[in-house]
Amino acid sequence: MQVLITGGAGFIGSTIARRFLADGHRVRILDSLETGLLANIPADAEFIEADIRDTDTLGKACQGVEVILHQAAMVSVVLSVAEPSLCFDVNVVGTQRVLQAAVAAGARRVVMASSSAVYGNNPVQPKREDSPLDPLSPYADSKLTNEVNARYYSAYHGLETVCFRYFNVFGPRQRPDSPYSGVISILALKLMQDETFTIFGTGEQTRDFVFAEDVAGAITAAATQPGIRHEVLNVGSGRPTSLLELVELAAAAIGRPPKLAFAEGRAGDVMHSQADVTGLAQRLGYTARTSLDVGLARTLDWMQG
Ligand SMILES: NC(=O)c1ccc[n+]([C@@H]2O[C@H](COP(=O)([O-])OP(=O)(O)OC[C@H]3O[C@@H](n4cnc5c(N)ncnc54)[C@H](O)[C@@H]3O)[C@@H](O)[C@H]2O)c1
Repeated sequence: MQVLITGGAGFIGSTIARRFLADGHRVRILDSLETGLLANIPADAEFIEADIRDTDTLGKACQGVEVILHQAAMVSVVLSVAEPSLCFDVNVVGTQRVLQAAVAAGARRVVMASSSAVYGNNPVQPKREDSPLDPLSPYADSKLTNEVNARYYSAYHGLETVCFRYFNVFGPRQRPDSPYSGVISILALKLMQDETFTIFGTGEQTRDFVFAEDVAGAITAAATQPGIRHEVLNVGSGRPTSLLELVELAAAAIGRPPKLAFAEGRAGDVMHSQADVTGLAQRLGYTARTSLDVGLARTLDWMQG
């Protein structure tokens, strides 16, 4: 099938692109290269450099596409707090244009990246899709709004939609060179360079780390499963890991004791985050399989070239 991946030059989008190409699908990527890299784009993929808010180019990019895998976004919570209007423009207006372009081009389904950030500081663990929501940042708010818009497009335009609430995704090609990058890639880089790693907060906060190739597996299930109208599903490992535990694991894998500093918690950050993943298993028959140890080892291998 022909798929369009928005944000396909990014970390998760490029992992999905590789998986779909390996499965024999045709892959078109639309990306503005805001945080993505040309080097991430597989040679066999078609590439269009454009912003998702550019309706003309987006419309052309959707021609002949069966399923759109919408990953493009302003991805940083911190940046969204600093620039809420821009966050809403890129994430909400941009996503609305993707949904509209999908309908106009006759695409069958849109699978889009939401976020566990929609649960905010809801103390219930693990988070179920029907747990109370508490978006604490413009980023989280934008992702929740996108889920509501996806439901509308399913109900009123017959577009099949799947919104995936990703927990903490990690793996090869995640950028370690930005303060907004995933904690694992930053931690690994600091350990490899024998530099100080700063923990924001006590380090007792927990996250549910899911390997990017498992996310690509879930996306494959979401793109191909028949009989979907509208789904909102968690994508995580189902296991909580504290930052202090993560530091220990990564330091053991690299074979060097960590240098740590502690700083005040960041605005919009949540304390605990663990996915209930029974919805993903029941609705799409998919469960993430890669353990944190194995995923960490593969990420470190990639980083060490
Ligand atoms: N990495 C995680 O742990 C995580 C967790 C929850 C949700 N998500 C979501 O997953 C998606 C992918 O995130 P990622 O971690 O791969 O980040 P990323 O920054 O590597 O990828 C985002 C991609 O979108 C592109 N992009 C940004 N603005 C664009 C625009 N206006 N038009 C076209 N392209 C644009 C960037 O250039 C980049 O290639 C995002 O929607 C993000 O919010 C990620």
